[in-house]
Amino acid sequence: MLRNKSVFTQAVHAGERGPRPDFDPVSTPIHPSVGYLYDEMDDLDGVFAGERSGYVYPRYGSPTVTAFEQAVAVLEGAEDAVAFASGMAAIHAALLGAGLRGGTAVVSAADVYGASYSLLDKIFTAQGIRVRFVDITDLDQVAAVVASEQPAAMHCEIVSNPLLKVADVPALAEIAHAAGALLLVDNTFASPYLFHPLEHGADYVIHSATKYLGGHGDVMAGVVACSAVRGRDLRERQKLLGANLGPQEAWLALRGLKTLPLRMRQHCANAKTVAEWLAAHPAVAHVNYPGLPNHPQHHLAARLFGERGFGGMVSFDLRGAGQTQVFSFMEALELVLPATTLGDVYSLTLYPAHSSHRYVPPEVRAALGIGDGLVRLSVGIEDAGDIIADLAQALERMTR
Ligand SMILES: Cc1ncc(COP(=O)(O)O)c(C=O)c1O
Repeated sequence: MLRNKSVFTQAVHAGERGPRPDFDPVSTPIHPSVGYLYDEMDDLDGVFAGERSGYVYPRYGSPTVTAFEQAVAVLEGAEDAVAFASGMAAIHAALLGAGLRGGTAVVSAADVYGASYSLLDKIFTAQGIRVRFVDITDLDQVAAVVASEQPAAMHCEIVSNPLLKVADVPALAEIAHAAGALLLVDNTFASPYLFHPLEHGADYVIHSATKYLGGHGDVMAGVVACSAVRGRDLRERQKLLGANLGPQEAWLALRGLKTLPLRMRQHCANAKTVAEWLAAHPAVAHVNYPGLPNHPQHHLAARLFGERGFGGMVSFDLRGAGQTQVFSFMEALELVLPATTLGDVYSLTLYPAHSSHRYVPPEVRAALGIGDGLVRLSVGIEDAGDIIADLAQALERMTR
C-alpha cells in the first residue's frame, strides 16, 4: 500500500501497524501510543461507552499503566488500583474521591510528609474544607476531633515521615467508619511487603511509588488501591484532572515491583542493624525506629507487620546539633547519599527541616518533634557493615 506513495507519506506510516502478533512477550512492553485503532468504529464507540474493554486515549488509561495498576492491586489485595503521575497526585485524587469538597472536613495526622500537610493546609483549606491535624497515635484525641468535626475523610501514614510513628489502622478505621468517614492510609513506608491497609479497614491505600515500589530512584509515580467502585470513580476524575502516569514510568515502576520483597527484606534487616548501632552511639540523642523496643508503637508495629520487620526508614537526633552540624555530618558521608528521596536501593539521608518539611510552619515542626538536629535516613540494600562504617566516619568528622 505504501510502495507507490510519496516519501512524505512513507516516512510517516512505514513500519507501523504490522500484522497482529501471534506471540506474547514475556514482560509487558512499553506502549507509548496515544491513539488506538479498532476494526469497526462501533468497537471504539463501545470502549468510550465502557461496554467493551480497550483503550482510546492515555488519559483514559493505557496498557502499560494498566499492567502496573493490576500488579499493585494484587500486591495490596485490592479490587482495583489507579496509577498517577506522582504520590501527591494520588493523595489529591484519593482525598477528592473520599468526598472532600467545600463545607466538609478532613482529619489528618499532623506528622505526615510535608507536602501532604501543605496540600491539606493550603490547597484544601482554601477550598473551604475544614482541616484538623491530630496526633494520630492518640486515639482519644482522634475520636474527640472526629466526633466534633464529623469529617468526610481521615488521612494518615502507616509509618510517618519523618518521625516513624505507627498508625493503628484497625482502630482508626473503626473511629472513622463509626462517624461515616472514609480512611485513607499512605502505605509508602511499609509497602505491601509489610502491611495491607485494606485488610485492616482502610478505604483507600496510597503509595508514592517513587519510593519502595519503584525502588531504584529512577521513576516518579503514585498509585491508589481501593474497591472497584472507588477505582471507577477515581478513573472518571482522572479523565478530567489528568495527572496520569506515563507508560515509560509505569514500565519502570512495574519492573521495580518485581524485586520489592527481596529489597524490603534487605531494607528491614539493614535498618534494624543500623538503628541499633545509632542508638548506642554517643553523638546520637535519640533514634526513631519502630523495630526498637523503646519505640512507643513497637508492639503495635509488630502486631500489624508480623515477622517480616519494621521497614527501612530511620530518623535520629544528633545530640545538641543544629543545621550547621547536621550539614557537616551529611557532607562527610561518602557512601550514604544526601539526596531528597527515600526507599531506593541506595542509602539516602535528608534534613527534614530544610527539605521535606520546609513549608510546614516552624512552630508546627517544633511541636511535632521535627527539631533542628533531626536526620532522616533511608537505609538502602548495600552491606549493613559498609553503611555503618560510613555513618561512623561521618559522625567522627562532623563539626561539633
Ligand atoms: C509518605 C509519602 N507520601 C507521599 C509522598 C509524595 O510522593 P511523590 O513525591 O511521589 O509525589 C512522599 C514523598 O516523599 C512521601 O514520603
